[in-house]
Parts: sequence; structure tokens; C-alpha cells
Amino acid sequence: MKKLLAMVLTGAMTLSLLAGCGGAKEAADASANTASDSASSSSDSAASASAAIADGVLTVGTNAEFPPFEYVGDDGQPDGFDIALIKAIGEKMGVKVEVQNMEFDSLIASIGNKIDVAIAGMTVTDERKLSVDFSDSYYDALQYVVVPKGSDIKTADDLKGRKIGVQLGTTGMFIAEDEIENSDVSSYNKAVDAVNDLVNGKVDLVIIDKNPALVFAGKYPDDVEALDGSQFGFGVENYAIALPKGDADLLGAINSALGELKKDGTFDRLVSEYIEN
Ligand code: ARG
Repeated sequence: MKKLLAMVLTGAMTLSLLAGCGGAKEAADASANTASDSASSSSDSAASASAAIADGVLTVGTNAEFPPFEYVGDDGQPDGFDIALIKAIGEKMGVKVEVQNMEFDSLIASIGNKIDVAIAGMTVTDERKLSVDFSDSYYDALQYVVVPKGSDIKTADDLKGRKIGVQLGTTGMFIAEDEIENSDVSSYNKAVDAVNDLVNGKVDLVIIDKNPALVFAGKYPDDVEALDGSQFGFGVENYAIALPKGDADLLGAINSALGELKKDGTFDRLVSEYIEN
């Protein structure tokens, strides 16, 4: 009997606790609604709902060593498809965009402190998702294999046991280290240095994303060529903007700006201007 009473009491307490939680949750939902109501009434307030850009500035990290997505322009400033895209996104959001050039391998750890977001031809991976959130994907990519011209490297088997050059912290590095047997991997801060070492014969091949592979290989048309990664079984990757974890307002503002740029033709114009020309 006593036991039964105890059980009833515990049940009642649990119920009242649940009720309490419900109340708190309702209150939170109500304030979230207010925030999104005011956000939808003006895109400026959507942006300022995020603490990251409360100062009206979106600080963007990139690694301008990855043409045509990002490179240092003639004026010494970062330029390229990603830079033009994030500036257009900032304009739609009503914030100023400031770009900081840094090492690719430092980008993720800098999000939420040195920089608000990163745009750097960055592939969405499960591992990275543990530290950052990603916007909607804006471009499909694939790893390519840059080899000496006329090389006999043709299949996944041919990659085994080779000296492979990659850029530090990239998906090309993860493939070389984790998926290719007996690989001897050299990691460079700048991908172009890996290609230079390929030309000098210090590495046997370089694994890097398609478009930069074509640009870098194009610098040495007599010495190297870029091979399509699908012939080695590499899968499609998706580029997205990396953001601080859990900043739903910033994520929403960036995704809706990106959606608008796709709708109004700006996105396609940037693709043909920077990538397809
Ligand atoms: N897509 C690859 C990755 O996410 C390489 C990106 C390199 N980007 C750069 N700006 N250096 O790992």
C-alpha cells in the first residue's frame, strides 16, 4: 500500500514536472515566433537576430589558394567565385562583408571567434559537421588526380603505394591518407606547391578538387595532366558555407540570400563569369 502510494506520488510529480517543461517550452516557442515574425518583416532584422553579425559586419574566412573559387587578385585582395558569392549574400542580408585570408586548415577552428563564417570550396563532411553547421550546398565537386603527362596511373589500384601531394586538411588529404593503401602523403599549405613538387618529380601524383586541378595543371600543359576522379572511384562532394554551430538565424539568413541569388540569376552569372569561362 505504501509502495503504491509512493508510485502514485512519483507519477504525479513526473506529471507536474512535464507540465512545467511544457510551459517553459511554450514560452520559448512564443518568443521564437516573435523573433521570426519580426525577421520576416525585414531582411535587416533577420540578419541582426544573429549575434555574429549584430555589428553589421559578416567576417568571412577563406584560403585564397584555390582558383577559380578563391585566389589573390591583382589588387592583392581575395577574389574568385566564392568571394563574389559571399559578397552578394552579404548585400542581400544588408551586412558588410570583410574577407580574411588564412590557412585552409585553420578555418574551422576560427569560426565563431576570428571569423563568423568560412567560404573556401569547403566540402560538407560528417567529421566537420561535429564542429560547424553548413549552409545549403551551392556547388558539386569531385577530387581529380594530377599526374605527369603520359603517366600509366589509370585506376584506383595504380594509386597504391605512391607518393601523393595534397593540401593540408582537405578531403584530398583524407582520401590519400585513409583510403589509399600504403600511400606516402606530403601535405602542403598551398596546393600549388604540391603541383610544383609533382612537376619537380618529388611526388607521383596530386589529389585535389576538379576546378583547381584543371587550373594548376593548365599552368604546366607540357608536364602534367588532370584525370577525372570518377575513374578512381571518388564520389561527388558538395561545397557549402561553414557557420557556427546552432546559429539558426544566421543559417536562415544565409540560406534565404543564397536562394534569392539562385532565383534572380546572380548565381548562374557568377558561375559563368568565374568557373565556366
Ligand atoms: N574541397 C576540399 C575540402 O573541403 C578542398 C578545399 C580547399 N579550399 C581552399 N580554399 N584551399 O577539403
